[in-house]
Amino acid sequence: MRKFFPVEELARDERFTQITMRQSEADPRTVLLAEPTGKRPKTNRLTPDRPDASEAARSLMHGIFVGEIQALEGAGRTCFDFETGSGDAPDTVPFALKLDMARQAWDEARHVEISVKLSDWMGSEIGQFAENTVLFEVACSNDPVLRLAGVNRALEGLAIDVFTTMKEFGDMAGDPYLEFCEDWMLADEVTHVKMGSDWLRRVTENDPERRKNALEFQSVVDKIFSFGGTRSDSNESPIGLARRFRELAGFTNTEVQEIADVSLKALEERKAFSAASLNDGDTEHSETGTGTEQLADA
Ligand SMILES: [Fe+2]
Ligand SMILES: [Fe+2]
Repeated sequence: MRKFFPVEELARDERFTQITMRQSEADPRTVLLAEPTGKRPKTNRLTPDRPDASEAARSLMHGIFVGEIQALEGAGRTCFDFETGSGDAPDTVPFALKLDMARQAWDEARHVEISVKLSDWMGSEIGQFAENTVLFEVACSNDPVLRLAGVNRALEGLAIDVFTTMKEFGDMAGDPYLEFCEDWMLADEVTHVKMGSDWLRRVTENDPERRKNALEFQSVVDKIFSFGGTRSDSNESPIGLARRFRELAGFTNTEVQEIADVSLKALEERKAFSAASLNDGDTEHSETGTGTEQLADA
C-alpha cells in the first residue's frame, strides 16, 4: 500500500464535492453577520433562534462528518507511514504511539458513523455540503511530531470547540440525541488531544529544536483552523473557544490565549477581505487570498 498519501487522491465516491480553503474563505455568509432583512444581529453564534439555525446546524454537522473522516485518515496514515523505532529519527515512531493512533482511528471511525446518523436525524444527506480537505492536509507532514502538533493538538482542539458548540446547540434546541452524541464524542476528542500532547513531549524530550518547530507549526495550523475567525472568542464567530474542555485536555492558559489571539486576528483579516470582495463584486481579491490562506499556501 502507498505511503504518504496525497490529499488529491483521498478515496471519495461521487456524492462528495471538495473545495479548497481559498473557496471556503471567499464565502462571506458566516463572517459579515448579514441577515436577509439587512439588520445586523447581536451575535453570530449558532443558536436555535437564528433565522438560518436549521441550515447552519446541518452544515456544521456535515463539516463534523467530513472532519471525522479526515481525522480517521490522518491517524491511520501515521500508523502506517512510519517505521517502528525509538522516535528519535523523524522517520520512525515508537510502537506504543502507533497503538494510540490506532485507537484514535477506531474512535474516529465510530464518530463518522455517529455523524452520518445525526446528519440523517437532522434531515440532511451525505454530500449536501462541500468538503474542505484542509484538515487532512495538516496530517501530511513527513515528520510524525509535526503531525502530532497539527492533528492531535490543532485539529483535535478544533474538534473540542466544535463539539462544545454543537452540544450546547442540542441542549438549547431540546434535542437530547444531538446533545448526548456530541458530549460522548467530545470526551474522545479530549483524550486525542491529551495523547498528542504527551507523545509530542516524550518524542522531543532531548530535541528542543524539533519541539520548537512542532509548536510553531501548530500555531500556523491553529490560525488556519480558525477558518477566518469562524472559531474564536468573539460573538461574531459561530463557534466559540471551549476554554474549559481545552484545559481538561491539557492546554495551558497561555496556549489557549495564543489560540484565542490568532483566531481573533484571522476573524479581522477575513472580515476585511469579505467586505472588500463584496464592495468590488469581483474575484480580484480571491487572487490575492486572505491572511489565513497565505499561511495555508506557505
Ligand atoms: Fe472525532
Ligand atoms: Fe479525534
